[in-house]
Amino acid sequence: MSANILILPASLRLASHNRKLAMEAMRLLSVTDAVVTRLDLADYPLPIYDGDLEAEGGIPQNAQLIAQRIAAQDALLIVTPEYNHSIPPILKNTIDWASRVRKVQGRPVHPFKGLVVGLASASPGRFGGMRALEAVRIVMRALGADVITQQCTLANASSGFDENGQLADEVARANLEALCDKLLDTARSLSRHA
Ligand SMILES: Cc1cc2nc3c(=O)[nH]c(=O)nc-3n(C[C@H](O)[C@H](O)[C@H](O)COP(=O)(O)O)c2cc1C
Repeated sequence: MSANILILPASLRLASHNRKLAMEAMRLLSVTDAVVTRLDLADYPLPIYDGDLEAEGGIPQNAQLIAQRIAAQDALLIVTPEYNHSIPPILKNTIDWASRVRKVQGRPVHPFKGLVVGLASASPGRFGGMRALEAVRIVMRALGADVITQQCTLANASSGFDENGQLADEVARANLEALCDKLLDTARSLSRHA
């Protein structure tokens, strides 16, 4: 059975380096037998998490839809910017809301539990977003995900892509390929939907 893999670029910016890196991962995974889709957060606007909002109005429909999409996957590839050495608010807010979803269509769900997660980051800086990945790793582990060790960081991202948006940095390309291979292998062996 082919694995379902969701790619989540955690930037809304149109010229986002992380969206480009996510597209490269999508290209690599699309030539395998995996079913690969992308979660565009611009399609699922959410308020900042507030317990009163949840108590009064319940979990927003967009959070439920995101949780439902994540729950249907064997693996999730998060491609995220680094903000102040940590997780950008849109990603943390999305994870926080999705982690509140316990039921989809009346059935219990744990969107992140047992989910295979891979991490990648692109930054114009020289560390390539590696500190953000450490922070995401902690959050994903707290939610019961199986975060793979292999990761990809693209430093100096402003010059990391060619005019067609393809990854020009050879080291990052090799790392992204290794990450995608490992993610796919692990998703196949730990599939939640076998
Ligand atoms: C609030 C804020 C904090 C940032 N902090 C960092 C940082 O700690 N490390 C880093 O490498 N880049 C940092 N940056 C720069 C981002 O990496 C850069 O804006 C990047 O292009 C954002 O990702 P995107 O191109 O996918 O939108 C920061 C940017 C913003 C707006």
